[in-house]
Amino acid sequence: MRLIFATHNPNKVREIQAIVPSYIKIQSLAELDYNTPIIESGYNLEENALMKAKTVYDQFKRACFSEDTGLEIAALQGAPGVHSARYAGENATDKENVQKVLAQLGDEPNRKARFRTILALVMSPEEIYMFEGLCIGNILMGPQGVHGFGYDPIFQPNGYEKTFGEMTSSEKQAISHRTHAFEKMNSFLVRYRSPR
Ligand code: IMP
Repeated sequence: MRLIFATHNPNKVREIQAIVPSYIKIQSLAELDYNTPIIESGYNLEENALMKAKTVYDQFKRACFSEDTGLEIAALQGAPGVHSARYAGENATDKENVQKVLAQLGDEPNRKARFRTILALVMSPEEIYMFEGLCIGNILMGPQGVHGFGYDPIFQPNGYEKTFGEMTSSEKQAISHRTHAFEKMNSFLVRYRSPR
């Protein structure tokens, strides 16, 4: 079974390919020579994920899924959320986004936060499924560690003494929001039987 992953990010493709059974072959947009940027103008992660998966499904008429992730901070009413990639501006760097979050939080004692991943899977226009993965933790007062990307250096998952930025990629992958969402989709795919 071939499944299109509506992403240009090869790391994400490798991550999911390692989880799904070998009879499912994940194809990225790069492999399909699809270079058109997909508009992400949704009001939340669900809308964005759905928009991407439907756009790509319409193009290829083949089973397809997409992913959208955001960092949700309780004291910031869920921000940066769907705006995580561009929180400090259109071309903001990870460092600028992190600095904006830290500045907004200041010395706020409630540092609770979570990463949330939404996967939208379009098997056909009538069969659309969503999967959610969470990783719950706290935002530290300053960055720690140099690994990972995005908000990893300021996010410490519950039950761990290290930030994501201090973990190896396999340590992070074992507990990450994306892994949880991928595993849910994987269990679904293993059981999936096409009605056609
Ligand atoms: P995307 O939807 O996976 O592209 O994620 C959007 C933005 O959320 C990224 O640009 C990062 O700023 C942030 N983000 C997503 N996943 C992670 C993660 O695992 N660690 C840190 N930041 C992340």
